[in-house]
Amino acid sequence: MNHTETLQLRVKSITWEADGILSYELHPEPPLKDLPAFGAGAHIDLHLPNGLIRSYSLLNAPGERRRYVIGVNKDARSRGGSRYLHEILRPGDTVTVAPPRNNFPLDENAPLSVFIAGGIGITPIFGMIQRLRALGRPWHLHYAARTRRQAAFVDALEAMHGLDGAEVHMTFDREAGARMLDIPAIAATLPDGAHIYCCGPVQMLEAFETATAALPPDRVHREYFAAREAAATEGGFVVQLARTGRSLEVPSGKTILDCLLSEGIEPPYSCQEGVCGTCEVRVLEGVPDHRDLVLSEAERATNKRMMICCSGAKSRKLILDL
Ligand code: FES
Repeated sequence: MNHTETLQLRVKSITWEADGILSYELHPEPPLKDLPAFGAGAHIDLHLPNGLIRSYSLLNAPGERRRYVIGVNKDARSRGGSRYLHEILRPGDTVTVAPPRNNFPLDENAPLSVFIAGGIGITPIFGMIQRLRALGRPWHLHYAARTRRQAAFVDALEAMHGLDGAEVHMTFDREAGARMLDIPAIAATLPDGAHIYCCGPVQMLEAFETATAALPPDRVHREYFAAREAAATEGGFVVQLARTGRSLEVPSGKTILDCLLSEGIEPPYSCQEGVCGTCEVRVLEGVPDHRDLVLSEAERATNKRMMICCSGAKSRKLILDL
């Protein structure tokens, strides 16, 4: 558990979107009228009855205040999150939800937005596309899935092709005659001023980061769903909590968050994998060993913020704003 303020939302409907992908429409209960607003690319955290907290991107149009819609892929390696949603959660049930956060915001003023989506990575991008449609701004989508049946929102996306400069390119790499999505070619031909976004499996994101390494960082955006490297559990440093003056020794085998929780201190946290940003804290002194996928390289270099669920320390001591 953590101290993030949460909402109780009712599952109004569950919809089949593609093989292995269901969408969930969540509505507020009276007397709550409007839900907290969200921008394109935002996600919500679901606090599940089995104790897990899982982040899911919002795929409905930013600006909607009466519902949140998420898409959930049934992960064969599920540790209980997607399996619970697919097998147990039913329309009419209530779920505990932390308000939206956004680590993957859309630049609404870009002359062109180019999206690369892999599998369930289409969910935040689908919300971004709806926002750009509302603004009448151009976008190109390159969407890869194993097969057409495993790709969500295909009909809706294909119907948008050609509207307001939109282009929709689908790649189904397990179908006859398929070619792999050529991410280096997409990045190499990115028009001046265009912004490029990627969300998908780790291998796709790594290829994206390589292909876009020479582009201006403020025009390159990506969101990971899962950790890419192990959490820092080497230990051997001290964390001082500036607000109370308490100091904790972080031993080998534990993260900073582990140590805080075992001392009865419960900062906000969610994914515990360095991908959601919920556990971010300000660093007042010391040098973190960043292992998250939320901060950009430039943000990491300032050493002003860190994710305490996965990052450690390169200095002997860290002073945190906790
Ligand atoms: S809890 Fe998600 S980044 Fe730390």
